[in-house]
Amino acid sequence: MGDRTAAGPELKLEKLISEKRLVHSRSVAEYARLLAPRFGEGADRAWYAGLVHDIAKEFSPEAIKELLKEEKDSFAEEDLKTPRLLHGQAGAAYLKKHWDIQDSDILDAVRYHTFGRLAMCPLARLVYIADKLEFLRSSVDPHLRAQSWSLGPEELFRLVVRKTAGYLQQKGELIHRDTLELLKSFDEEAYEINR
Ligand SMILES: [Fe+2]
Ligand SMILES: [Fe+2]
Repeated sequence: MGDRTAAGPELKLEKLISEKRLVHSRSVAEYARLLAPRFGEGADRAWYAGLVHDIAKEFSPEAIKELLKEEKDSFAEEDLKTPRLLHGQAGAAYLKKHWDIQDSDILDAVRYHTFGRLAMCPLARLVYIADKLEFLRSSVDPHLRAQSWSLGPEELFRLVVRKTAGYLQQKGELIHRDTLELLKSFDEEAYEINR
């Protein structure tokens, strides 16, 4: 799994995604690897989950819909109108079916990297963060990236979810229901702490 030689998963991935997407995926893998110790995760497992997170990003809507038949519990029916939004869930199904990945944390990390979700495991939070902050993503505030190396994992996760939602709002884009639920849970936690 953690094989980072030329014969490793990058070669297989090359056949499924564009060069640009592969460069992004390598960058997410590297970010997740560096951040792994702060999340109590193994570096190789984090690197692998980061590398494969967008495996289904360039699949056709038809291929995504076909894969989603195995993923019924992980998304809401209405999201099927925009299959591309479900490339995480489709990616998890693909990895299970074609690459025989059984590690449920890796599958969850791929499944939920786009919008986040309540009750994510540490690896899923780590990949979510790495996807949003990776070094080549030009829209990232360098200060936020710098905070990766000082904040605790939970605080960093909350901050990245909030910043991502704020950024989408600024662009006039809709915030997905799963992200809204997460944001609501952060507010409720803060309320409990301050009570
Ligand atoms: Fe993605
Ligand atoms: Fe990505």
